[in-house]
Amino acid sequence: MLPERSAAFAERRKNSRDAAMSTRNSDGTRASGETSALRAPWEPLPWRLAEEDLETAQRLAAEIRELAAKKNAVILAHNYQLARVQEVADFVGDSLGLSLRARETAADIIVFCGVHFMAESAKILNPGKKVLLPSLAAGCSLADSITADSLREWKARYPDHVVVTYINSSAEVKALSDICCTSANAVSVVRSLPERKILFTPDKNLGNWVKKRVPEKEIVVYDGVCPTHDVLRSASVRRQRGLYPDAVILAHPECREDVVALADEVCSTTGMFDAVARHPEAKTFIVATEWGIIHRLKKMYPDKEFVMADGCIGCRLHCPYMKMIDLPQVRRSLEEEVFEIEVPQDIAEGARRSLERMLAVKRDS
Ligand code: 13P
Repeated sequence: MLPERSAAFAERRKNSRDAAMSTRNSDGTRASGETSALRAPWEPLPWRLAEEDLETAQRLAAEIRELAAKKNAVILAHNYQLARVQEVADFVGDSLGLSLRARETAADIIVFCGVHFMAESAKILNPGKKVLLPSLAAGCSLADSITADSLREWKARYPDHVVVTYINSSAEVKALSDICCTSANAVSVVRSLPERKILFTPDKNLGNWVKKRVPEKEIVVYDGVCPTHDVLRSASVRRQRGLYPDAVILAHPECREDVVALADEVCSTTGMFDAVARHPEAKTFIVATEWGIIHRLKKMYPDKEFVMADGCIGCRLHCPYMKMIDLPQVRRSLEEEVFEIEVPQDIAEGARRSLERMLAVKRDS
């Protein structure tokens, strides 16, 4: 090995050991008050914390934890958040896990490090709490692909269909739906319905994936996508498989049909943590979802290798909205109690019915 390569290798080993000093339990809850893994060497360069900024990040993290304790706040973070944001959170999870946590929490304040529809769902499920989204720039283009008017129009065209709406949607759209689902329970949600005719909104790829698994239902699928997942093509995945022929392919069901067809495991982001454990013989995993997931995968499985399905960490499988929140935004959110999420009562009631109906159904993955 060349000297500079062996030095880089040693540095990587050291960094991954440091990061592996996990402050997180395998169920996503916080294990201790430490914040030892704020700097994740596997994050792409534009987002990776520089060595010289580590002290500032540690100070911010300590202030965040102090403020959270003082204000009886809980910090929830999605699996796609920056590593340092995941590290300061009380719970890290997928959309379903986060909804359940938000509904159950006894905290006075929920700081939601994710995107707008997630914080909105938290408010709907736990209306007595103050729910804060640290950045109002954290939207979701998939959620924006369907409005209440477009759903009304669609329902009018299919009057005898029931509406299953992915949680990546606005409160208004949820209120007009019969039941919600997430990527972790979509198949079970559709199977749980007594009706045969279904409108599935707004994600086309998830809808088509469910359709294949539940052929006994007649499912009409809306034409929305998550651009982050939809951009991934099977040609890129095949190229990666050529480079890592023994790798196991993990794909999120928001990926296109041709990508999902190549996958060994199709599951929600949290489902991917269990999926790795199902392949103890595998050394390498090709990951077809947003790169933020790599942080917990690396921490949970430090001896495994995770490579992005597009072969390019941080360029294409990158959700800009999920990266709007960093430690300064979380601290400001707690300090100034911004930005508070409100949902009009009539809309919240309808959306809560759809969300609660979903939460009564078991998880698929
Ligand atoms: P999950 O949180 O269900 O894994 O889905 C990820 C996602 O795409 C969120 O928008």
